[in-house]
Amino acid sequence: MKESIERAKKYITEKVEITPEIGLILGSGLGFVADDIENAVLLEYTEIPDFPHSTAPGHEGKLVFGKLKGKNVVALKGRFHLYEGWNPETIKFVIYVLKSLGVKKLLITNAAGAINKSYNPGEIIIVKDLINFQFKNPLKGQNLEEYGPRFPDMSSAVDLEWASKLKEKVRKLREGVYIAVLGPSYETPAEIKAFRKLGADLVGMSTVPEVIVANHCGIKCLVLSCVTNMAAGVLETPLSHQEVMEVAKKVKEEFSKIVFHALEV
Ligand code: 6GU
Repeated sequence: MKESIERAKKYITEKVEITPEIGLILGSGLGFVADDIENAVLLEYTEIPDFPHSTAPGHEGKLVFGKLKGKNVVALKGRFHLYEGWNPETIKFVIYVLKSLGVKKLLITNAAGAINKSYNPGEIIIVKDLINFQFKNPLKGQNLEEYGPRFPDMSSAVDLEWASKLKEKVRKLREGVYIAVLGPSYETPAEIKAFRKLGADLVGMSTVPEVIVANHCGIKCLVLSCVTNMAAGVLETPLSHQEVMEVAKKVKEEFSKIVFHALEV
């Protein structure tokens, strides 16, 4: 793994001049945030040595380096979901590459279903804590001590200071707990009922592995969920991926605005 990180880092730093301070991981349908990056330098995942990439058609995969709201950023357009069959270690590798490039903070976005009945589709929620219901851990296996400890603390998995600064700027933002499942099937109504009892407000299929690795290697995280639909059993209607993508598109402007605020605070 160490050699692969070095190879990827070497390739990237030879092509890109800026040192990114903030990493942006953009969820399903939320990749548009990267379109506003100034002086953008794009690297395809396929061109970076040892960098994972999907061979499935229609899958985007690029790193976008540049300036956003005055900050040096790198955005990951195209994410590695466990339901695609990626090994959790793949996510560890990607976050370690970001760390090796100098990333100090990570802004993670996702599309999520609302378990909390008071949420509305189109609403953007700050994730204040997470539940790992994927039962996979990207840190399993040999530990690289130079990146972080064997047993990382997860008692403040998201940076509450960053979150509260954002809330001061955008007062209407509400907070919630995100539960990650493996997917790709959506949940049954009984599962959603059970998750509500566990204390979850939002459900999705991503984010938790990235947050685990980030905590391990000392990168501060902020997680923003875009509620694209109510979870199973809340309404009568069945869930569809198309609905998820459509709602994500509708909130484009507002979502971008909140991300910009999150970069500035
Ligand atoms: Cl309802 N469930 C999951 N697992 N992921 C989602 C979702 C629901 N809505 C958007 N993404």
